Amino acid sequence: MKQGKRVGIVGAGNVGATVAYSLAMLGSCHEIILRDNKLDVARGKALDMSQAASAVRSHTVVKVAETMEDMVDCNVVVVTAGSPRLPGMSRDDLLMINANITKEVIQGIAKYSPDAIIIMVSNPLDAMVHVALKESGFDRSRVLGMAGILDSSRMAAFIQEKLGYGGGQIRASVMGGHGDDMVPLPRYSTVAGVPLTDLLTESEIVEIVDRTRHGGAEIVAHLKTGSAYYAPAKSTAIMVEAILKDTKQIHPCAVYLEGEYGYNDVVSGVPVMIGANGAEKIIEVTLNEAEQSMFKNSCASVQELIDTLHKNNFFDGEK
Ligand code: LAC
Repeated sequence: MKQGKRVGIVGAGNVGATVAYSLAMLGSCHEIILRDNKLDVARGKALDMSQAASAVRSHTVVKVAETMEDMVDCNVVVVTAGSPRLPGMSRDDLLMINANITKEVIQGIAKYSPDAIIIMVSNPLDAMVHVALKESGFDRSRVLGMAGILDSSRMAAFIQEKLGYGGGQIRASVMGGHGDDMVPLPRYSTVAGVPLTDLLTESEIVEIVDRTRHGGAEIVAHLKTGSAYYAPAKSTAIMVEAILKDTKQIHPCAVYLEGEYGYNDVVSGVPVMIGANGAEKIIEVTLNEAEQSMFKNSCASVQELIDTLHKNNFFDGEK
């Protein structure tokens, strides 16, 4: 029998496991269910995390789903499953591989946790949100993508580094897709309420914007064998908590647009009010001409990926 809140996490790799660990330490829910094809790894991590939860007197228990059938009645399901880009693989190859993995996972979620809110984390993020939405048949309010909190946190960290002060008081804002043409918004970034544009020169801001756009790649270049996971996982946990606690806080998230910002049938990152029902409200920020044009480019890049999926008959059941 289900007790309290249950969070499912598909993919117990670095990101998935760290999301689980963050939630277990916070005692955000009663149960976390990990699903991974490497069943023994998932079992080991689940035991380890349940024991860590005990150490901090958290009531959260971490369990393993042997198959998707065990992932029943979750309030929220986080999807981190996917293949990383391997040598010789094009971006489109990765797109098709991860779209097929996402399709299978989402069908399982729709069947066994039909009331869940889905948070996509797998890349390419915006396209995977699109696939999850189409394959689940869920209302768009129940399919969100994690990227904006991560990209904004990276920008905030770079601002702190550049300024040398203001840590914990920085609110950075990034919209658009989770790609090289994401849209960092210095005009909407502040340090203790002071506009960033009053604190840094234009060239310093350009440097921060550029570093934010390539923040993921900077970490991959250091790690060499994988990509970032602490900030991606923490950003995901923030979204899960906002849903479980019905906080109604505004966070940048990837959602399917239906007329907002003048776009239809495309997923992009925008400020979203998150509550128990998922993306409860999309906030429309006033963008100037330059920002609008960057947002347009970003949406066009996401659209290109969706066009590739269509060309490969992905949505018609053909692979
Ligand atoms: C990042 C990749 C994983 O931004 O999307 O770190």
